[in-house]
Amino acid sequence: MLIHAVRAADVATWALLRSKLWRSADASELAAEAHDFVAGKAIPTIAAVFIAEEGTTAVGFLELAVRSFSDGCDSMPVPHVEGWYVEPFARGKGAGRALMDAAEGWARERGFTELASDTEPWNERSIAAHARCGFRETERLVKFCKSLR
Ligand SMILES: CC(C)(COP(=O)(O)OP(=O)(O)OC[C@H]1O[C@@H](n2cnc3c(N)ncnc32)[C@H](O)[C@@H]1OP(=O)(O)O)[C@@H](O)C(=O)NCCC(=O)NCCS
Repeated sequence: MLIHAVRAADVATWALLRSKLWRSADASELAAEAHDFVAGKAIPTIAAVFIAEEGTTAVGFLELAVRSFSDGCDSMPVPHVEGWYVEPFARGKGAGRALMDAAEGWARERGFTELASDTEPWNERSIAAHARCGFRETERLVKFCKSLR
């Protein structure tokens, strides 16, 4: 399993993996964001991206943002895992942990003392994988939005 920071050559694969994780999002918008990031444009929601490769096949990715704060963390700002995905056929073999290790290394190198993440309450696999990777659950929230249009 090889983990590396995303490169321009990975953009199409990364965009495809993003659309597999965020299925209800607009795939063309996810791809445009990926292109912008590898082109060096500042994307507030993406600070670092890691790709997991098995042989020559990209099987997963992890995206980090640096958020001004994250519920349950003490430090501000704090790096936050925004996306963590491994292809179903490649799961359970260490790719997820290796991606998380790379994210942790990126954060430590920059002097951060915490790493934040979240997932849906029903996502038992993700909750278990977070716990195995050293995260402690801090709280469960119900989010709201009221349209003002
Ligand atoms: C979460 C996800 C990225 C984990 O990837 P993975 O490659 O299967 O993870 P790993 O094989 O490296 O496992 C990491 C740790 O979690 C544990 N783990 C993984 N799946 C688990 C499960 N279903 N139940 C219990 N533990 C589990 C592993 O045993 C491992 O711990 P260990 O190294 O101490 O043995 C993957 O399941 C996934 O893509 N899920 C769908 C997308 C998603 O929900 N992403 C997270 C929210 S953004």
